[in-house]
Amino acid sequence: MGPLGAYADEYARSLADPDGFWLKAARAIDWTRMPRRALDRSRAPFYRWFPDGKLNTCYNALDRHVAAGHGDRIALLYDSPVTGTKQRYSYAEITDEVARFAGLLVDLGVGKGDRVVIYMPMVPHAVVAMLACARIGAIHSVVFGGFAPKELAARIADARPKVLVCASCGIEPSRVVEYKPVVDEAILAIAPDCRPEHVVVVQRPQAPATMTANDVDWSQSISQTRPVGCVDVAATDELYVLYTSGTTGRPKGVVRDNGGYAVALAWSMANIYDIGPGDVWWTASDVGWVVGHSYIVYAPLLVGATTVLFEGKPVGTPDAGAFWRVISEYQVKALFTAPTALRAIKRDDPHMAEAAKYDLSRFQTLFTAGERLDPQTYQWATDRLGVPVVDNWWQTETGWPIAANPRGLEPLPIKPGSPTVPMPGYDVRVLDEQNTEVPSGTHGSICVKLPMPPGTLTTLWGDDERYRASYLAQHPGYYLTGDGGYLDADGYLYVMGRTDDIINVAGHRFSTGALEAVLAAHPAVAECVVIGVRDAIKGQVPHGLVVLKSGVETTDPEKLRAELIAAVRHEIGAVTSFQQVSVVEGLPKTRSGKILRKLIRAIADGRDEPVPATIEDPAVLERLRPVLQPSTGTAPRPCA
Ligand code: COA
Ligand code: AMP
Repeated sequence: MGPLGAYADEYARSLADPDGFWLKAARAIDWTRMPRRALDRSRAPFYRWFPDGKLNTCYNALDRHVAAGHGDRIALLYDSPVTGTKQRYSYAEITDEVARFAGLLVDLGVGKGDRVVIYMPMVPHAVVAMLACARIGAIHSVVFGGFAPKELAARIADARPKVLVCASCGIEPSRVVEYKPVVDEAILAIAPDCRPEHVVVVQRPQAPATMTANDVDWSQSISQTRPVGCVDVAATDELYVLYTSGTTGRPKGVVRDNGGYAVALAWSMANIYDIGPGDVWWTASDVGWVVGHSYIVYAPLLVGATTVLFEGKPVGTPDAGAFWRVISEYQVKALFTAPTALRAIKRDDPHMAEAAKYDLSRFQTLFTAGERLDPQTYQWATDRLGVPVVDNWWQTETGWPIAANPRGLEPLPIKPGSPTVPMPGYDVRVLDEQNTEVPSGTHGSICVKLPMPPGTLTTLWGDDERYRASYLAQHPGYYLTGDGGYLDADGYLYVMGRTDDIINVAGHRFSTGALEAVLAAHPAVAECVVIGVRDAIKGQVPHGLVVLKSGVETTDPEKLRAELIAAVRHEIGAVTSFQQVSVVEGLPKTRSGKILRKLIRAIADGRDEPVPATIEDPAVLERLRPVLQPSTGTAPRPCA
């Protein structure tokens, strides 16, 4: 350690000598051709990591641990309170399952570079399917099971998979959600040349699916396939495409490579999360989100740890003690969850009485991400659990934390409300609109000076230009995170929220533009805006403001509300938690007719945003204020 402390030394080195830093980190991975170069700048701003390296990510996650004599170690613990199932898979067992499923994919014609869409709940088959793709060099694209047919269809049409893998159903605490009809509807909605050739179905007893001609039953077919080995891929080859909400309704396909991702994840497990071989690690998220990709599936297995796959909720499956039960039962060393889950537990069990029923002596750290860890939730969890509660900030695009507290490298003092400091390779700067850095303590747009470290997105699927326009155009030379915030005098970052049209609902990211498109399609709606409003549990929930077409003012507001809510559930999914709709007389606009969304959002957040001089009719704004801030006015409340 140098004079600065281990973190500061490592961070400084990563920026001064990225090649040296990441080539050293690359030694944690088994390569079939060891890279001699780290950063390839030749196609900047499309940077590539380890351009001459070759490896297989599945081999690194599974086979190499078996080859090293750890086949009996538990790789995956499946705990499903919603079905009453518990299963353990050793590294040897899961390697065999993955090799067989990879064989099935090969039999179905899937090869290197082909896409496979995976639409599944939290069952081991989802993990097996992802790793099987990695094994044969196919590119997986996992779609979160809560998305409705139209969203699934948009992702299939963009990814053009050869095969789609799904389960017959998912199980929510209150209902069984049939997945196969969603898949069938999505496939029918897209052009025939974009449709997958086969659908592989995991039949679950809670709601078996009706099979059609091109459907393949997972369990029947797998017994007849031969296991296949790992193929070599270039470090720069794609491992997966993960769609996330952009500022328009069209999702963005974030592209992840193999080599950079493996290196970055392995570095993060040791240095941020302090997890190594044999440790039990639990990420309570969903494989459909980036947190699930990185920290349920790839990272823990890459370092030879045991990962917990939990098919349940923090509350209601069956109670607010579920997290503490799982931690105690499997001797979990660290849990990674979203603050919203802690707030839900706090609501049901304010004194955390449930935790006292379990032995949590092996539990060392609680990590959170997905949204800002608000200081109240931080304090509540810290006081009751007696372990460090550690925020980390990142996004689908980056794949691993931009800012974190490097617990494995050098635990830094925690400042409530801050995810701590930038991680190696992330040269974080807070900029104003003129692309100038602002002084510490001043709010601005949080950006990362290019190039970004390994593991971060390489482009958007099939759309380099959109990648450039979305992330690189606003602040030349920097990656735009879309988040606003500030750095304090100690270099701690504070991430205060999105600066664009994205909202964060229970740690899930949605585009208000996509929600608006659904509302605008209703025949009674002339125009609309969707904003995120504060919610005590979910952080934000969407609130739709709709202006009716003239002549339809007599529409029954309750009926309209029900129709709009149903439309959003059907078109995007229940997981949007869209429940609030207000019919308003008008929306504030500029004289050129542009709706002043930023201003509306600021007022709803209780922020003081200057009213632009170009506003068409200030009276419209005044009439809207009480709807946006219901406690301060007497005007009609939202019909929710
Ligand atoms: N498939 C189908 N439907 C789903 C789904 C899935 N995978 N996930 C959620 N839904 C549905 C739910 O059934 C619910 O439908 P309903 O309106 O008919 O009840 C709706 O989407 C909203 O679900 P959810 O967000 O789970 O809200 P909730 O009120 O049931 O539970 C929390 C609240 C806080 C417990 C829950 O949001 C939660 O566990 N959050 C943690 C999220 C998380 O881990 N995020 C990590 C991202 S890093
Ligand atoms: P996603 O791409 O779905 O992971 O969402 C990423 C977005 O969630 C970020 O751009 C932030 O707006 C928000 N976010 C995630 N983690 C944090 C965090 N720890 N603190 C603040 N915001 C966060």
